[in-house]
Amino acid sequence: MKKIRNIGVLTSGGDAPGMNATIRAVVRTAISYGLRVYGIQRGYAGLLNEEIEEMKSISVSDIIQLGGTILYTARCPEFKEKENQIKAAEICRKHDIDGLVVIGGDGSFQGGSRLSENGINTICVPGTIDLDIACTEYTIGFDTAVNTAMEAIDKLRDTSESHERCSIVEVMGRTAGYIALWTGIASGAECILTAEEYDGDMDRIVKRILRRRAIGKKNHIIVNAEGVGKSNEMAEEIEKRTGIETRATILGHIQRGGNPTCRDRVFASAMGAKAVELLYNGKSNRVVAYKDGDFVDYDIQEAFAMEKGLDPYLFHISHRLTSSTSYKELSQS
Ligand code: ADP
Ligand code: F6P
Repeated sequence: MKKIRNIGVLTSGGDAPGMNATIRAVVRTAISYGLRVYGIQRGYAGLLNEEIEEMKSISVSDIIQLGGTILYTARCPEFKEKENQIKAAEICRKHDIDGLVVIGGDGSFQGGSRLSENGINTICVPGTIDLDIACTEYTIGFDTAVNTAMEAIDKLRDTSESHERCSIVEVMGRTAGYIALWTGIASGAECILTAEEYDGDMDRIVKRILRRRAIGKKNHIIVNAEGVGKSNEMAEEIEKRTGIETRATILGHIQRGGNPTCRDRVFASAMGAKAVELLYNGKSNRVVAYKDGDFVDYDIQEAFAMEKGLDPYLFHISHRLTSSTSYKELSQS
């Protein structure tokens, strides 16, 4: 086994609160093992442009509490091309980078896997607000994002109540409904619409709002997962069909910013440290994960083959606990 001396770290894809805490853990763990660490800016784009600088312990001082990523991030579609993957691996070798930590979502993991195939020891760390990585029960940034969204929805509830309105709140999550389900439950939303479950039938939502209004409910919150439907158009339709003033609020990128929660900082620290331990111990092509109470790692191909869905029990209780809740129950009411 070749002894590892220098490692690189990059953040890629959508940023997530806690990425800085991960970078800090990577840098400090590596230094504790006597390794040199190179920060690669702007994800794979920066790697291809050789935006590579050595990081010292002081480089990551006072960043654990910061949202965003001090290494910047980027989407780099060109990295899907084989010749760029080969070029990136050559750049790593040129800079004596013996191992690389990639912090990002599943797209970034694909890039990491390609680098591994080209001879670069790569470890992927799940950094995405979406929670949509199958092998892990936790992704860095999710906790902060859902807390941000929950606080925003609490505020919307106040103004909705004063004006006796209905509010559609659109949350992020790309094609996954985790953020919608969690924030919907946490804020007591009347409806939670996710791509996994909603089939586009507005009739039952309208019926439910009217029924709740008839028994004295003054505001209605509908949490809509990004990608389910156009929130503004849905709001217009609900207003037209119920006669209740309805507003759409798209929370957007504020969900990606802000100081990470305690949980995100701690998990980011553990996952970043674990990534370096794996590299130091000669591992490659692994994904760091959290499963059944432990920080574990999987072969990246094995991780890609895994599947997960929204927790059926959470769906079940969301139906029970909110006053009109999720779509499935609407069909039965
Ligand atoms: P995330 O990592 O948050 O899922 P993206 O899906 O946008 O975000 O992916 C981030 C970056 O990862 C892409 O811009 C690209 O550089 C790289 N990437 C994504 N898919 C692949 C792939 N199939 N092969 C190589 N690189 C990829
Ligand atoms: O993957 C994180 C995420 O915020 C998704 O929830 C969302 O669909 C996407 O990124 C938005 O990407 P962009 O930063 O390109 O607007």
